Amino acid sequence: MIILFLLMASFVHHGRPGSPCPKEDISPWFCVNTPTTRQDIYTTFICNRHKCERRLEKAAGHFIIDRIMISDVKKDKRKKSRGVIRLPPNWLWTSRVRELEIRSTPLSGCFLCDSPLSGQEYYLNKLVASNCFLSGKVCTDCKKSKVFDYGHITAVDITGLRHLRSLRVLDFSFNKLEELSNTSFPSSLTSLKTLVLSHNIISDISSKAFTQLPSLAELDLSYNQINNLSRDMFSSPNVNLKVLNLSWNKLSLLPENIFSFMFSLREVVFTNNLLQFLPSTTWNQAPTAIHRIDVTGNFLICDCHMKWIVTNLTSRTRLHGSCSAPWKMVDKYLKHAAGIMVCE
Ligand SMILES: *[C@@H]1O[C@H](CO)[C@@H](O)[C@H](O)[C@H]1NC(C)=O
Ligand SMILES: *[C@@H]1O[C@H](CO)[C@@H](O)[C@H](O)[C@H]1NC(C)=O
Ligand SMILES: *[C@@H]1O[C@H](CO)[C@@H](O)[C@H](O)[C@H]1NC(C)=O
Ligand SMILES: *[C@@H]1O[C@H](CO)[C@@H](O)[C@H](O)[C@H]1NC(C)=O
Repeated sequence: MIILFLLMASFVHHGRPGSPCPKEDISPWFCVNTPTTRQDIYTTFICNRHKCERRLEKAAGHFIIDRIMISDVKKDKRKKSRGVIRLPPNWLWTSRVRELEIRSTPLSGCFLCDSPLSGQEYYLNKLVASNCFLSGKVCTDCKKSKVFDYGHITAVDITGLRHLRSLRVLDFSFNKLEELSNTSFPSSLTSLKTLVLSHNIISDISSKAFTQLPSLAELDLSYNQINNLSRDMFSSPNVNLKVLNLSWNKLSLLPENIFSFMFSLREVVFTNNLLQFLPSTTWNQAPTAIHRIDVTGNFLICDCHMKWIVTNLTSRTRLHGSCSAPWKMVDKYLKHAAGIMVCE
């Protein structure tokens, strides 16, 4: 009976609980404790007014915080910094935080420049800065490469993420980011599995852009302006990347070797691009482990160059998409079209 009770207790206390909320006033912050199925206290600190960025420990120190959420803070026009938020040095120094989410709040491109996250190296799992008016190039050597101009912020300096060895999810969606290079990401993000850069205006991705991220398994580059890719933005061989989302871009052609030595790819999404052909030379290099290929919403021409779909696509792989031309094939599913076409 006791053992059963202990077993149940250990099941309920699956995760380590956050701290109980402080009793005193911590405005502009407020704190919520909620029970979850995974842990009995889940602690969230929330702020949606000015001065969120002021040191949290002035309001609350020595906490284990599951999630910090800053959202919908309007620009503070009285401030010299034009109302954009730059997080102060050692911002969360006296607490430990598992997830930090900043949404719909104007951030400076230098919001991480003063090492606000020091102390969180073994704790922070997830960082979101979504719809925060970040723009330009993502860089870790911004000063050196002189793209950083404090008057006109044209870059996002993420050097401050260095040493966050527990960081698993990084989300910079819904900003105005334009460019990724081989020095965009610090090399110390060894746990980073999920990178979300959707809904930006990225058009330029240099070679080796993602090679600094050895654990990257899921990359979301959807809703950008990408018109050209190169295989060497990833390491080769690549054994970690499982999901690649490039939907809603401007791709008309894929490099022939885009799938070569991508041993773990399971899902590739190219919906709503400008692809016309699925050449066998490119697609036959796709690993047989891929279980979903989505090319819906392209301008695919279903002629004999697609016959390989019948002979070489394994039954394990689901191929989504339909033909746009020629006329008699319009709207037919690719597999069906490839099956009925008569070729020499
Ligand atoms: C990064 O790219 C620049 C040119 O854009 C090049 O000079 C530099 O050697 C590259 N660094 C690495 C580590 O590949
Ligand atoms: C795409 O990039 C490759 C090299 O990465 C280059 O050779 C090619 O000309 C580019 N194509 C377009 C359309 O920009
Ligand atoms: C991109 O595709 C992946 C895999 O299908 C999916 O999980 C993700 O939500 C997609 N991203 C967007 C912005 O729809
Ligand atoms: C289909 O796969 C076989 C064996 O891998 C290969 O020899 C052949 O060229 C492929 N067919 C096409 C149309 O690429």
